[in-house]
Amino acid sequence: MTIVVYGAGDIGCYVGGRLLASGSDVTFVGRRRMADELADHGLRLSDYLGTDLRIEPGDLSYATSPAAASRADLLLLTVKSAATATAADELADVLKPDTVVISFQNGLRNGAILSTRLPANTVLSGMVPFNVVNDAGGHFHQGTEGTLFVQRDPALTPYERAFARAGLPLLEHDEILPVQWAKLLLNLINPINALSDLPMQTQLSQHAFRLCWAAALDEAMNLLAMAGIEPAQILRSPMSHLPDILRLPDFLYRRSDVLPRMDPLARTSMWQDLQAGQPTEIDYLNGEVVRLAESLGRTAPINARLVALVRAAERNRRTWTGPELLHELGR
Ligand SMILES: NC(=O)c1ccc[n+]([C@@H]2O[C@H](COP(=O)([O-])OP(=O)(O)OC[C@H]3O[C@@H](n4cnc5c(N)ncnc54)[C@H](OP(=O)(O)O)[C@@H]3O)[C@@H](O)[C@H]2O)c1
Repeated sequence: MTIVVYGAGDIGCYVGGRLLASGSDVTFVGRRRMADELADHGLRLSDYLGTDLRIEPGDLSYATSPAAASRADLLLLTVKSAATATAADELADVLKPDTVVISFQNGLRNGAILSTRLPANTVLSGMVPFNVVNDAGGHFHQGTEGTLFVQRDPALTPYERAFARAGLPLLEHDEILPVQWAKLLLNLINPINALSDLPMQTQLSQHAFRLCWAAALDEAMNLLAMAGIEPAQILRSPMSHLPDILRLPDFLYRRSDVLPRMDPLARTSMWQDLQAGQPTEIDYLNGEVVRLAESLGRTAPINARLVALVRAAERNRRTWTGPELLHELGR
């Protein structure tokens, strides 16, 4: 069984690398700069629990042409959401009809985009709850805890053991939309983290930044309730408890353990995008809350403001303190 990771960047190299390190047949497809990085350094995969694995360059297959996906029995799509339609069009020309495709992306719409463009294939939506950073030396580090989620389907059966062997067991759900919304609620921290320019743990230690996230969450959860959508429980407590926990004073918040464990240096991919001068996924995260509000004849001013601030930061970077951002969102 050949697994192809399409759009192998941070998530793709980490998940594909763990599968390869545990004996699966994996081919990566992505950009020339990543192919060069892996050819120079090989892959190093580490996590917050102390796992540290290495794969030599000679043991890696990293292609830069979509044609390499023609071998896939299972294809993991790990491009950013804005790149999904283009990737799907490239894949439509090369995939076997029985290739199973899993979208391991944030956001709500990637599965539908893929299904429309790849009508012959089984397309499943997945969710990666943990965070991965790359240091440009072939090193990919999982900084927060979490297990891979995926839409339940019999087509996954042949691959379940491979993911478990890689230390990334698949948690299968009948209904993936509530899981995706739950992840999206967690991702509402992404713009706040990106604008703060701080590691997540440092940012969360500051009450004002926690209040910003709580406000964005309250707004989103009220809209979800109006739409009759109940987010799945992907934390140790129900998502509905999260805003109150974030509002706790520092000394009480420090005793809570509702959020996934994280490294002191873990950051969000939106922060990485701003650092790299690349467009962010803001339209597919807080932008979805704004769209949900519009569909209900409401507004979502806090999430809309976060979208606007990140758009501005994509053009012109500026760092916000917690009190500054809280004041801005309260205006
Ligand atoms: N990083 C995290 O910690 C994390 C955690 C959970 C979920 N996620 C989600 O996982 C998804 C992937 O994120 P990521 O951080 O891994 O992104 P990433 O590091 O940008 O990796 C995606 C890679 O795919 C490449 N690519 C884009 N279109 C392509 C195409 N048509 N053919 C081949 N390669 C293509 C990109 O190159 P270009 O940049 O040149 O387009 C990039 O190198 C996103 O939806 C993200 O929200 C990320």
